[in-house]
Amino acid sequence: MRCWRLPVLLLMMPATLPAQDLDPGRMLAATCANCHGTDGRARAGLPVLAGRPQRELQALLAEYKAGTRAGTVMPQILRGYSDEQLQQIARYLAAQPAVVAGGRR
Ligand code: HEC
Repeated sequence: MRCWRLPVLLLMMPATLPAQDLDPGRMLAATCANCHGTDGRARAGLPVLAGRPQRELQALLAEYKAGTRAGTVMPQILRGYSDEQLQQIARYLAAQPAVVAGGRR
């Protein structure tokens, strides 16, 4: 007769999940990486966002979203984010080490 106990015991073991990075700002900022570089460390031509004061970033984002600051792509992009999400993104980017690698500020 086959032993059925082992598979049943395995099913009863609690699943241990790896520690997850739950910073919503980090996940949201990943959508900016195509243009502004990983964690806001832009390379050629685009503004570096990493390590800039949260208040400054938040103000820029709010102005783009409100349409009071002109831009080619940012006003359109930021329409898709809530104010809370923009705050989370700004907080995350401000906490990143500022590395100027050919990007302009
Ligand atoms: C498609 C490329 C692209 C993506 C994606 C993108 N940006 Fe931008 N970003 C730009 C460009 C280009 C500018 C210059 C202003 C303009 O032309 O809209 C800019 C400007 C900015 C500025 C102003 C910087 C300054 O010093 O004036 C901030 C802040 C910014 N982006 C934040 C973000 C954030 C946060 C995201 C993600 C939610 C993001 N960007 C996604 C291309 C992009």
